[in-house]
Amino acid sequence: MKLYLGVDIGSSITKAVALEGKNIVGFTSIATTDPIAAASGAIGKLLAEHGYKLEDILRIAVTGGGARFLKVRELFGIPLTMVDEVEAIGLGGIALTGKRRALVVSMGTGTAMVVVEGYGGSIKHIGGTGVGGGTLLGLGRLLLNKHSVEALENLAEKGDPRRVDITVADIAGGPVGIVPGEATASNFGKVSDEARDEDIAAAIFNLVGQVVGVLAVFASKIYGMERDIVAVGKLTSSKLIVKAMKDVASIFDAEICFPNNGGYCTALGAAYKLAKELSL
Ligand SMILES: Nc1ncnc2c1ncn2[C@@H]1O[C@H](COP(=O)(O)OP(=O)(O)OP(=O)(O)O)[C@@H](O)[C@H]1O
Ligand SMILES: [Mg+2]
Repeated sequence: MKLYLGVDIGSSITKAVALEGKNIVGFTSIATTDPIAAASGAIGKLLAEHGYKLEDILRIAVTGGGARFLKVRELFGIPLTMVDEVEAIGLGGIALTGKRRALVVSMGTGTAMVVVEGYGGSIKHIGGTGVGGGTLLGLGRLLLNKHSVEALENLAEKGDPRRVDITVADIAGGPVGIVPGEATASNFGKVSDEARDEDIAAAIFNLVGQVVGVLAVFASKIYGMERDIVAVGKLTSSKLIVKAMKDVASIFDAEICFPNNGGYCTALGAAYKLAKELSL
């Protein structure tokens, strides 16, 4: 067995993916701590969970913010190849969808946007926003004393964001221009004494999903990519985030695709880059 590993040391979570040829044959994740500990831990966990041995690994690609702080050139005696995070996000987005061109929106702790053309021939970082998964968790902790996305989402599913957000219809009595009445006019603009924890939780998901969704859609219009928006990152595992983003996209006549295993996009992109380089 000959494996290429991609390890993405994200701000919150370290992901590892194993490729055999072009096939994904394993993935796993652990919390990010010290970068060497996180990378070694993720690799060890991947091997243990899938019954692989160290000798099965040909080479390891590392990427993500934490990879910059790795002060070593090899792990377990296996050489490491640094892959630029933007390139990894772009290549991963193309690999997960088979698209020729895409606006890849990486929704992790923060949010980064990458424009890819020509199946990865051109990959460009166009910016992003500090609103992302970290915002969701930070506000959940601060306002509701909830410490995980799961706990926050369980609460939010029972809530009604209309007790917290002002809708366009609240202000104008109905739709305004292209915006329907049920769209948000002001996130958190209507927090009243009637707002329950459930409603506040739902409004936090709305805030993050809508801000990222609007930004992604507007960016897509600059590049003519309204049908090529690909959302990835662990935050896309949240049903409520996906719903908020899809609702925003439909208002502006755009489409957002949420590929399976999107949380592993960056790790996968790094592994693909390695596999491509070494098979040339
Ligand atoms: N079970 C879950 N379902 C949905 N979202 C989750 C879950 N667990 C964590 N998250 C969200 O995912 C975010 C982390 O996503 P991800 O692992 O893609 O980021 P990262 O790579 O660590 O960060 P960055 O890319 O910004 O450096 C967390 O901030 C949290 O909001
Ligand atoms: Mg990341």
